[in-house]
Amino acid sequence: MKSDEMSAVPSHVAIIMDGNGRWAQAQGQVRGYGHKQGAANVKEVVRCAAEIGIQRLTLYAFSTENWRRSALEVNFLMRLFSTYIDEYTRELVAENIQAHVVGDVSALSRTLREKIERMEELTAAGTGLVLNLAINYGGRAELVRAMRRYAAECLNGGQIEELTEADVARYLYPSAAADVDLLIRTGGERRISNFLLWQVSYAEMYFSEVLWPEFGRDELAKAVSYFAHCERRFGAVKAGD
Ligand code: FPP
Repeated sequence: MKSDEMSAVPSHVAIIMDGNGRWAQAQGQVRGYGHKQGAANVKEVVRCAAEIGIQRLTLYAFSTENWRRSALEVNFLMRLFSTYIDEYTRELVAENIQAHVVGDVSALSRTLREKIERMEELTAAGTGLVLNLAINYGGRAELVRAMRRYAAECLNGGQIEELTEADVARYLYPSAAADVDLLIRTGGERRISNFLLWQVSYAEMYFSEVLWPEFGRDELAKAVSYFAHCERRFGAVKAGD
């Protein structure tokens, strides 16, 4: 990256990692092979994001809609998350990364939940990049959860008279509640797919044709350069207009 672009590094980057299946098919392999390669690429992109100075990275690993895939693929993905989280925790600690899972973990197996808990506990003191893995996550489900939590607080005698936007953000998953600056989607589709609906309100969008297993260091740098050249107005007009 050029030095003049360093000042415009996005703080919160969210990525819809799409294209594992197509990548595998292009190699004459089964979809699981693509997911495995996709998981290896997660490590590479996390490392690069930290180097670039991104503060928060939220990755869409499994949506609330992904349960509709075949049982074979769902089971494969769940096992992959489990192995990955287990093996990766030590590296996360060494790299000073604070890792979280956002989403409804109650639907996940006990083994996976225990590994998630262990990862979150062991990385809690990390002061570097904040990494969120979105597993069984849906933007609508997150908003419903927020509304339920707010309603419960009101019923319990909470004194919130007028709900503000800042209040709403307090009911989201804390580690991913910050506004997204840059949303990246790989794999050629141009959709938000129920990801971080509240948080992407003013995000810059970067769509890449590259399939996730091949979206490496150079591709991330391109996305960040794109962001550096965006003029962010947040609904206002350009000075002088
Ligand atoms: C979308 O590609 C990808 C997923 C639903 C799974 C994302 C999972 C990973 C990147 C690997 C594991 C991640 C972690 C955090 C360990 P797709 O299968 O829909 O691709 P296609 O559109 O080509 O079929």
